[in-house]
Amino acid sequence: MTAAIGLGLLGVGTVGSAVVRALAERATYLEKTTGRSFEIRKALVQDLTKVRDVPLEASTFTSEINEVLLDDSIDIVVELMGGVEPANSYLRRAIESGKHVVTANKEVMATHGVELMALAAASGRDLYFEASVGGGIPLIGPFRQDLAANQIREVHAILNGTTNYILTKMSSGDADYKSALAEAQHLGYAEPEPENDVGGHDSAYKLAILASLAFKSDIRPQDVFREGITNLTPADFRHAAELGYSIKLLAIAKADADDVEVRVHPTLVQKDFLLGQVDGVFNAVRLDGDLLGRAMFIGRGAGPEPTSSAIVADLIDLGHNIHRNEHNRIPLSFSPTTRVRPIAAVRSRYYFRVWVQDHPGVLAQIGTVCGEESVSIASVIQKEIDETAGRAELVFLTHEADESSAQQAITRIAELEVVAEVASCIRVEDLAE
Ligand code: NAP
Ligand code: HSE
Repeated sequence: MTAAIGLGLLGVGTVGSAVVRALAERATYLEKTTGRSFEIRKALVQDLTKVRDVPLEASTFTSEINEVLLDDSIDIVVELMGGVEPANSYLRRAIESGKHVVTANKEVMATHGVELMALAAASGRDLYFEASVGGGIPLIGPFRQDLAANQIREVHAILNGTTNYILTKMSSGDADYKSALAEAQHLGYAEPEPENDVGGHDSAYKLAILASLAFKSDIRPQDVFREGITNLTPADFRHAAELGYSIKLLAIAKADADDVEVRVHPTLVQKDFLLGQVDGVFNAVRLDGDLLGRAMFIGRGAGPEPTSSAIVADLIDLGHNIHRNEHNRIPLSFSPTTRVRPIAAVRSRYYFRVWVQDHPGVLAQIGTVCGEESVSIASVIQKEIDETAGRAELVFLTHEADESSAQQAITRIAELEVVAEVASCIRVEDLAE
């Protein structure tokens, strides 16, 4: 009989528990398909007293990392803890101890993935990370392998299930920000620290990983311009809908001959395009390949079961490799010299909402500032009038302008005496058919 593949889990929380259950439910199939069975030999957690709804013996749990790393019967370490440290050090040590590794940790992969991949390759070990981007949607595999013949120029994506769930609830008026976030946490979508989701950090990590693979460039989280969703208001959802747009936390990556642009921010996206209709916990990645043309991946981007789908798929792939004694079949390399365009030089359209004094000449003053800053106004609509305060609400859509010009115009508009408040400014991405 062929020996079982030994697993060491680092973390048995929301995702880890789903992985343990999925492995138990599929034990026979996994053995049949890979030629080897999988056995969880150790599971690292912080709190040994916690009651866990998983089919594992109490003796499997440990709070001592060396019990996993020094256990020679463990072939694969599966990291499902989250955070940069100690996860990064544990992954390094696991590889150095001769183990293959699987991780769902986008923060570690975005920050240290290039070094970890190099270490794994040099050590003759495999590093799999399908669950780090898009939850259950296959993305790393396709970007690494199936799309390899293409030059990819653009990626537009919704990469965070928690924020998409919150934005969907807010736009339909079903829930406010706070209760929608609480629901996302209850459903197991949110990061242990939800600021990672709502602040756009999680999407930025995932975009850094995808853009690195798409453009074969070493792109790090600090290269990604980032804005979260916490300043969006019900009025913006209302006005965007009337103008034919949804508001999504969009992750955008574009490459041309000179540089790449990588940014995550709330964005008005046409409602009649598929990307504008991706709702709830669903994520989507839309890309343009020179051979394939446009393609789109959609699926559940968070949640324990969808994420376990990606992790178990990685384990199956690794199981095949171990059984056949093959590793690092698809090596990756990333150009370290790619230039990242500063956000000030990015071009976009803009939506902005302004409360002004309700009297003649106000529009002309705002128009003059925009003209002087080379920001061309595409349309303006007067939305609300607050008669008691003598104020009116105006919504502007601009043509494409430089980010630096748009921000300068907004700053100057806010300083006009006739302007009470610039209530919001959101970038607009008009997708091509
Ligand atoms: P979680 O529920 O907070 O679970 C984390 C687990 O790691 C817990 O079992 C915790 O132990 C253990 N742990 C944390 N720090 C530790 C340390 N220093 N030493 C030992 N054990 C430690 O988190 P999760 O939602 O499962 O997420 C895990 C990873 O999957 C993260 O990288 C996350 O970004 C990624 N991910 C999550 C989703 C999702 O939908 N939730 C989707 C894709 C990827 P205790 O149980 O004792 O506290
Ligand atoms: N917190 C993440 C999200 C989990 O909501 O998308 C999936 O990576």
